[in-house]
Amino acid sequence: MKTYMVTGGAGFIGSNYILYMMEKYGKDIFIINVDKLTYAGNLENLASVSNEENYRFVKADICDSEAIGKIFAEYNIDRVVHFAAESHVDRSIKNPEVFVETNVLGTLTLLNHAKNAWEKSDGSYEEDKIFLHVSTDEVYGSLEKEGEFFYEKTPYDPHSPYSASKASSDFLVKSYIDTYEFPAMITHCSNNYGPYQFPEKLIPLIINNCLKGDKLPIYGDGLNVRDWLYVMDHCKAIDMVINNGKDGETYNIGGHNEKQNIQIVKIIIDTLNEILDDSDIRKKHINYDLITYVDDRKGHDRRYAIAPDKIKKEVGWEPSILFAEGIQHTVKWYLANEEWMSHVINKDYLDYYKKMYK
Ligand code: NAD
Ligand code: TYD
Repeated sequence: MKTYMVTGGAGFIGSNYILYMMEKYGKDIFIINVDKLTYAGNLENLASVSNEENYRFVKADICDSEAIGKIFAEYNIDRVVHFAAESHVDRSIKNPEVFVETNVLGTLTLLNHAKNAWEKSDGSYEEDKIFLHVSTDEVYGSLEKEGEFFYEKTPYDPHSPYSASKASSDFLVKSYIDTYEFPAMITHCSNNYGPYQFPEKLIPLIINNCLKGDKLPIYGDGLNVRDWLYVMDHCKAIDMVINNGKDGETYNIGGHNEKQNIQIVKIIIDTLNEILDDSDIRKKHINYDLITYVDDRKGHDRRYAIAPDKIKKEVGWEPSILFAEGIQHTVKWYLANEEWMSHVINKDYLDYYKKMYK
């Protein structure tokens, strides 16, 4: 039985990953979810597994060396799957410090404890240990020309404080691989969407605003492109990289699903109108008139697009959920989980929203 330490497991991708793993492996794995529960962490996401005997939640900050050391001392951890991060570009533009603390120093703290726990006296490591660092395609910067893609060898060129902090953490992981032969891998995924995503990110924000009849803020000209991947495909990719990937390697994860932001917003409006019953009064105000162009994000990257060739060839992963299917499922999930959304839309969120979109 393998023991997984999942950091940031109460966040969007982390909680989907834990649900995926518990469903797939049942009692054959043990998961310790280590999360500080920032504004983005929500244990409600994990209600269905919280009482399972092979699942534990530990509230801890990954920057807190003592707390992390205690977890490594208590459990024989085989895999660290490191999601915990400050993850929102707009927040990083307003307050970069916490991004450096969590994303850079927190990653360093985890690397040091994993290395101490796994290293043998001769400098080699215990068998079958792996540290999977979950990173982003945003470290590669912005693609300006049609037909260009991010490959694993694309030079780093981060622009936002968020992507700069993720790039820094990637370099720390790489340095541990190169200097100490530390057993780690890095994945760079494109934009995820799906259930449990916090409504500061484009897709859940637009769904929520549509349902409320609020304006739909689009930055700049709305023609920026993101490469969207359904979150469960990302979770599956991480599992396959851990099982079939090679120590020390980097893998890009994406679904060749590039869309302009304006296309995404229109698809959400159309999908809601398709799904909602004609008698639903919200249908009256869900239309393109809600679209509102607002000031552009500072340093807004124009286009991201992943070439997932290596992960397909070497790991055998490819996306399984088409965008048309994934967005239907996502919209339906938010409609069925309005209570989840009502808990997330608390005073902190409303304050954030007011400041951000004033
Ligand atoms: P999220 O913001 O939804 O969740 C982050 C989680 O980390 C939260 O549960 C939060 O409480 C926790 N956390 C934050 N600071 C912490 C700390 N100091 N100690 C312990 N826990 C802490 O983020 P997400 O969208 O689920 O992203 C997860 C990871 O995937 C991040 O590393 C992100 O860079 C990466 N990623 C995200 C996307 C995306 O589209 N969302 C794409 C590619 C990569
Ligand atoms: P986001 O979901 O924040 O992800 P990221 O910045 O990590 O790609 O944003 C996705 C795209 O949508 C990005 O180009 C910014 C844009 N966007 C808007 O136009 N309006 C919004 O209110 C938000 C949150 C994002």
